[in-house]
Amino acid sequence: MGLIRLTGRLIGTTPDHRRVVLAQLPAHIRDTVREPGCLFFDIAQTADPLIWSVSEGFATRAAFEAHQARTRASDWGAATAGIGRDYRIEDGTPEITPERPEDARAIYLLNRTAFGASDEADLVEALRAQGDLALSLVARFGRAYLGHVAFSPVQAPVPSWALAPVAVRESVRFQGIAERLIREGIAVARARGIKAIFVLGDPAYYRRFGFSVPEARGLTSPYSGAYWQVLNLSGATLPAGPVTHAPAFAALE
Ligand SMILES: CC(C)(COP(=O)(O)OP(=O)(O)OC[C@H]1O[C@@H](n2cnc3c(N)ncnc32)[C@H](O)[C@@H]1OP(=O)(O)O)[C@@H](O)C(=O)NCCC(=O)NCCS
Repeated sequence: MGLIRLTGRLIGTTPDHRRVVLAQLPAHIRDTVREPGCLFFDIAQTADPLIWSVSEGFATRAAFEAHQARTRASDWGAATAGIGRDYRIEDGTPEITPERPEDARAIYLLNRTAFGASDEADLVEALRAQGDLALSLVARFGRAYLGHVAFSPVQAPVPSWALAPVAVRESVRFQGIAERLIREGIAVARARGIKAIFVLGDPAYYRRFGFSVPEARGLTSPYSGAYWQVLNLSGATLPAGPVTHAPAFAALE
């Protein structure tokens, strides 16, 4: 069950249709954006005063079907039943891209909401401010931000990055969005000559990418322990030695 996108037009034919849409639309938008599975919901007047463009995104097919059922039973549904609709409904895929300057605020909010605290959101801001955001990828769907992952340089025996934090919006979890962000980040790291990526996290999750707890044992850090892992991209045994994160991580301890 993945993302759903609806695009199309609402097509009125009489002045009464226009009156009904203008009267009912604000409440319809307000109620829809409150639905937990709604990612974006844009209805805008076109150059034709009787036609509106419609662009909607939902977290899952179940969320979209719940929205349709609620809409049909709503005042909006009853009042606009006679107005034409030309809609296309399709499965959606998030786009994974490096962050742009205008993404910074949305990344902050996404991390703060996903973690339920501002520590990781602040960490990303500090890494960026200190020039230590080696790679910051966002997953976007329409105008909605669904996920984010950050990589920062670490001092280690080979050229290395740390993966942290990674976050995905709650309503779209378990769809492989974090996995796509992390795989894309690993590919960029390889292309840039990075030989090792360190992460502190649940080995049950990070194992799928090739992260290893045993290989990290000789690479010592304040984070060493059962959750300290490395992904070896070097093609050889990693030399032992200390690993030091970017200064921004100090604020987390
Ligand atoms: C962790 C998180 C990023 C995963 O996002 P996601 O897009 O749902 O992840 P994916 O869909 O790629 O992966 C889902 C898989 O990971 C597993 N998984 C997800 N979170 C996990 C966790 N915290 N521990 C162990 N396994 C986890 C799921 O069981 C699922 O396994 P499966 O593929 O075998 O069914 C998301 O849950 C999140 O933002 N959590 C809050 C922030 C956080 O804890 N971040 C990680 C620490 S930096």
